[in-house]
Amino acid sequence: MAPSAITPETSPERQISVKKAAVQSRSHSSSVSSVASIKLNDGNSIPQVALGVYKAPNGQETEDAVTAALDAGYRHIDSAARYANEEACGRAIRRWLEKTGTPREDIFICSKLWDSDHGYEATFNALCTSLDKFGLDYLDLYLIHSPAEDEKKRHESWRALETAQKLGKVKSIGVSNFGAAHIENLLNNATVVPAVNQVEVHPFCQREALVELCNKHGIKIEAYSPLARGNKLEDPTIAAIAKKYNRTPAQILLNWNAARGNVVLPKSLTASRIQSNLDSFDFQLLPEDVEIINGLGSENYVTGSMHKSKD
Ligand SMILES: NC(=O)c1ccc[n+]([C@@H]2O[C@H](COP(=O)([O-])OP(=O)(O)OC[C@H]3O[C@@H](n4cnc5c(N)ncnc54)[C@H](OP(=O)(O)O)[C@@H]3O)[C@@H](O)[C@H]2O)c1
Repeated sequence: MAPSAITPETSPERQISVKKAAVQSRSHSSSVSSVASIKLNDGNSIPQVALGVYKAPNGQETEDAVTAALDAGYRHIDSAARYANEEACGRAIRRWLEKTGTPREDIFICSKLWDSDHGYEATFNALCTSLDKFGLDYLDLYLIHSPAEDEKKRHESWRALETAQKLGKVKSIGVSNFGAAHIENLLNNATVVPAVNQVEVHPFCQREALVELCNKHGIKIEAYSPLARGNKLEDPTIAAIAKKYNRTPAQILLNWNAARGNVVLPKSLTASRIQSNLDSFDFQLLPEDVEIINGLGSENYVTGSMHKSKD
């Protein structure tokens, strides 16, 4: 895999380190792919590709998917209290670490605070519950899942995240589904600038103003639903470009997103797709094709109104 494709030189906030994800020398497999890491504004590194596990059940199917992802070379799992599968993820992660002798620090685990747990004390309780479910001592990233309605409680939640970071319970802290107004409001009340904003971003939902605002503040965009939930894989423009590069439409969507410097979180429970999604970054789209994809759309959400934010 050519790491420069996922962290192209053309992107201003480029990386940094590309490490052989599986640390092959001690790996169980010789066919793992490498993943790039991106530096966050707090100095920590984040693997640019994660396995997303939204709607993955809290059982064997998810354990198998997480194991397949780690075997393939993913080093980042994106879960949430709301997904109700932290236990299955944790079982797979702990078993895999033990089996491969990989140190905990080599993988990156994210979870999220659900709306009903906003508030200072409630946030701590929710974080402790998530840690217990994963069976881990710390998370690499903990996000406020959505801004919810109550501004005061949201600020309290953020203060709790800042404290949890100081205590070492989470390495990095961030937000999700925050629009421009939420980001600006938080920055006026926060001590720590969020490391990431996890929002829906793909060629049909580009959210340029929000991305620009986040870039200005050093807040990394984590692109959720980067495959547009599978709903745009037959789009004729994407299909034609996929044919031109002899790639799948999913690989074109992921490559476009990562080349913008975004973290991408493709979800799949299918081992072959988990692998092919990771193999999306060893080529570079020509500028004229990027231009065509950029013209596809800007605000076509696939995830429904709950996660829309005004930006
Ligand atoms: N913070 C938030 O509010 C939020 C909201 C939404 C998502 N997220 C995060 O982002 C992750 C990804 O988003 P998402 O789950 O909404 O959607 P997505 O990753 O855009 O799409 C997932 C869908 O695409 C299918 N798929 C995956 N790889 C494929 C491939 N190579 N070819 C064809 N189909 C493929 C999957 O099916 P199979 O599983 O059957 O392969 C699944 O139906 C989530 O899992 C979650 O971690 C966060």
